[in-house]
Amino acid sequence: MKILITGSGGFVGEYLIQELLMRNHEVYGTVKSSVPKPLFPVYDLNILDDFAVESVIKTTRPDVLIHLAAQSMVLKSWENPKDTLLVNTIGTSNLLSAIIKYSPGTKIISIGSSEEYGITAKNGIELNEEMPCVPQNPYALSKYSAGLLTLQLAKKNHLKAIHVRAFNHFGPGQREGFVVSDFASQIAKIEKNNFRPYLSVGDLSAVRDFTDVRDVAKAYVLLVEKDVENGIYNVCSNKPVAVQEILNELIHLSNVTIDVNVDEAKFRPAEVPFFVGNNTKLMVSTGWKPERSLKESLKETLESWRQR
Ligand code: GDD
Repeated sequence: MKILITGSGGFVGEYLIQELLMRNHEVYGTVKSSVPKPLFPVYDLNILDDFAVESVIKTTRPDVLIHLAAQSMVLKSWENPKDTLLVNTIGTSNLLSAIIKYSPGTKIISIGSSEEYGITAKNGIELNEEMPCVPQNPYALSKYSAGLLTLQLAKKNHLKAIHVRAFNHFGPGQREGFVVSDFASQIAKIEKNNFRPYLSVGDLSAVRDFTDVRDVAKAYVLLVEKDVENGIYNVCSNKPVAVQEILNELIHLSNVTIDVNVDEAKFRPAEVPFFVGNNTKLMVSTGWKPERSLKESLKETLESWRQR
């Protein structure tokens, strides 16, 4: 299939593209600023430039569009809600309009977030796709509105579209700003003795549902290849893990003594304390299941920071 990926140079994009190329798909990417020597055609594209978006869609007319390009940090969305809404919601709107106009046969896979569920997520509740969303931060709101818009426009214009709610994912290559890489990068620096002697952390009581990025990429590939119904699909492991447990495991993997300093400045406004997802719909519709163990993935992620 011919597949266009926005944000192809990002963390998930790189794994997704490897997987798609391995399965002989024809891959095209878009990036906001040029990347060196990609193995497939890549367009420079700002998704807020609707004429440029139209031109890429008109030129490629892909079988599937996987829309990864986004402002993906919750914390940053509090600092700059306007940019988050523009990129995540209006950027999606531009792509949808171009598809309706020039390539209505394209199947759209929009990537959203578990954050969309917001305060519906309560201790012990497994979030499924039917549950109401009550977003608690600008990032969550931007992804919720992008998802709704995707499915509403798909219904009106008879498009194929799915909206993924991805729960937390991590792995080698993720940049700082996300909890596992924030912890692993500091540990690697402490081990090399060129950093302050303690690990600075935020709220350790939060419980999240973590999946290795390579399992997430496989889920997206199956959603591309299988003829699944339009709608929302959670991508998650269905295992609650406290951020404290992530920290303990990473420290356990290290060969030096590490002190931990809880920094209240890293706590977030309106933090939802518990997110765990139900992944039955994805498993039943595609046959997907997460394959990598949390411990092994944490080990590989820490090792990747040691090599940088
Ligand atoms: N980043 C970070 N750094 N988070 C920390 C830290 C720290 O030092 N200490 C504790 N945390 C807590 C955060 O407060 C949050 O509760 C949890 O760890 C996870 O934080 P992140 O890894 O930053 O992820 P997120 O949940 O805010 O958002 C990520 O997951 C979403 C899916 O649920 C992002 O990848 C989003 O793009 C994604 O949609």
